[in-house]
Amino acid sequence: MGNSVTVIGLGPMGRAMAGAYLDQGYRVTLWNRTAARAEDLVRRGAVLAPSPAEAVAANEVVVVSLTDHAALYAVLDGVAPAALAGRVLVNLSSDTPGRARETADWARERGAVQLTGGVLVPPSGIGAAGSSAFYSGPREVFEAHRSTLEVLTGTDYRGEDPGLAALFYQLNMVMFWTALSGHWQALALADAYGIKAADLLPYSVGALDMKRFLEFYAPRVDAGDHSGDVDRLAMGLASAEHVLHTVTDAGVDGALPAAVVDLFRRGVEAGHGQDSSSSLVEVLKRK
Ligand SMILES: NC(=O)c1ccc[n+]([C@@H]2O[C@H](COP(=O)([O-])OP(=O)(O)OC[C@H]3O[C@@H](n4cnc5c(N)ncnc54)[C@H](OP(=O)(O)O)[C@@H]3O)[C@@H](O)[C@H]2O)c1
Repeated sequence: MGNSVTVIGLGPMGRAMAGAYLDQGYRVTLWNRTAARAEDLVRRGAVLAPSPAEAVAANEVVVVSLTDHAALYAVLDGVAPAALAGRVLVNLSSDTPGRARETADWARERGAVQLTGGVLVPPSGIGAAGSSAFYSGPREVFEAHRSTLEVLTGTDYRGEDPGLAALFYQLNMVMFWTALSGHWQALALADAYGIKAADLLPYSVGALDMKRFLEFYAPRVDAGDHSGDVDRLAMGLASAEHVLHTVTDAGVDGALPAAVVDLFRRGVEAGHGQDSSSSLVEVLKRK
């Protein structure tokens, strides 16, 4: 018989995933709202199901790679509960931990099980060594299907709570999007001076390699130690203002550095001027 899997959602991620399963000899059933996105995969041997219900019926393991959980409901809410019963929904669609728990309940009400996933690599990392994804949900279901999951990426099982994989994924994305936005900001500023992204590349790589800082601050933050022996937030505020002025002097959009200045200023106003900038963690804990 061999292995088989259904993949629902053929954005860049779902297409890479379906391709990885085909590479490993799986029989792959597909469904996507825009059927044309399946063409290459069908040429490689995948089967395009005519409806979500038939895609779900084809295999026990149903990998769902949609934009978010609203899209999952748009595709699967119309499928009869009987068709979903006994299925393992490997839900790799990004959303909040709360939504992941709701969707796990939604699946359970239909006799299915959700494994929540959060993939940490772009499509080019699917099927590649060293890639990883968070998973949470029933451990025995995760273990039973681990080898199928690991066709896509390495697995990092976070626990039974279906929200956990989404939480760890979003923790990652908080850092990813903020850091990447900082990079886009630097490139916009560099462009104002005729500096190309490629010229800045070695400096960008250096600036975003924060391992040393992260390792230094982690135990101090956990110990509640924000002493200003290495850096002080008052210095950080002055530095953030220099960034903002450099950006606006160049005629570049300053919304992002202004938000950083605002955060640092609120920290100073809260009395942390002589503390480390890590004291912003305490400021941010209060909404
Ligand atoms: N791309 C990445 O680098 C990356 C990395 C890590 C994690 N992720 C996560 O992986 C998931 C998939 O990523 P992606 O880049 O493939 O996402 P995407 O480009 O947003 O495409 C996802 C799929 O969602 C479908 N879709 C969206 N709204 C729908 C609706 N209302 N009804 C039916 N289908 C709908 C699209 O169908 P159509 O083809 O018909 O539009 C497409 O198949 C996302 O949650 C993303 O956050 C992505």
